[in-house]
Amino acid sequence: MAAYRKEFYIYSQDRPVPVVIRNYREEDFEGMFGIQQACFPPPFPSELWWNREQLINHVTLFPEGALCVEVNGRLAGSMTGLRVDFDPAHPDHTWAEVTDEGYIRSHKPDGNTLYVVDISVDPAYRKLGLGKWLMFSMYEVVVQLGLDRLLGGGRMPGYHTYADNMSAEKYVQAVVEGRLKDPVLTFLLRCGRTPVKVVSGYLEDEESRNYGTLMEWRNPFRSSGR
Ligand SMILES: CC(C)(COP(=O)(O)OP(=O)(O)OC[C@H]1O[C@@H](n2cnc3c(N)ncnc32)[C@H](O)[C@@H]1OP(=O)(O)O)[C@@H](O)C(=O)NCCC(=O)NCCS
Repeated sequence: MAAYRKEFYIYSQDRPVPVVIRNYREEDFEGMFGIQQACFPPPFPSELWWNREQLINHVTLFPEGALCVEVNGRLAGSMTGLRVDFDPAHPDHTWAEVTDEGYIRSHKPDGNTLYVVDISVDPAYRKLGLGKWLMFSMYEVVVQLGLDRLLGGGRMPGYHTYADNMSAEKYVQAVVEGRLKDPVLTFLLRCGRTPVKVVSGYLEDEESRNYGTLMEWRNPFRSSGR
């Protein structure tokens, strides 16, 4: 597949700012390490931050699934995926199993699903729509490759506040019904992702009490292929 590149403007405080979304490459790794550390501060386990070998694998095994966003020439975020065969009849899995702990050696070149390994936007560039633009760009990759869906497990970092008196399923239901807001689940809903299943032990993530919500976006051109 040809390299991905898109140039446009976002509005920041009512002013247009130039943005580029493109495939990331080795020169971007340093910037990506910094963004990860800012995005996933403690108590998130630092051993889950990217290391160089993982990023090398991303740009080598599935470069189409390695996207980043630049604002005014500065790296502001990234999103990474791999291809897997997803069987909706057996949805349960952990992040580590599917993504090979972020090394994506589990990438299947003919897999039917683009699975999200990570999406992160530098805190200094949040709420400008960049996360949504990255997600929509990855939908374009799904369509271009003719895949059935994009799938990923959303963290639910707001859950720990409610965990003592609400099950994870009830929390997700409250977010879907708009009674609660979650920094990640609400973001994913606003990006057009829909919940498939709540999975316990999905990711080592204290704030989410290790739960993740599998959420998908189906390729509208492949609706017969379900
Ligand atoms: C999740 C994340 C990528 C969102 O990035 P972002 O660029 O700030 O998101 P956007 O500006 O595109 O927001 C998209 C929508 O989500 C909503 N949203 C964004 N952050 C939100 C928050 N903290 N709480 C509730 N809703 C939020 C926005 O209202 C927006 O909707 P709108 O465009 O209809 O107004 C970013 O917060 C992040 O990097 N978080 C830490 C890493 C992480 O947890 N990643 C997810 C792993 S599963």
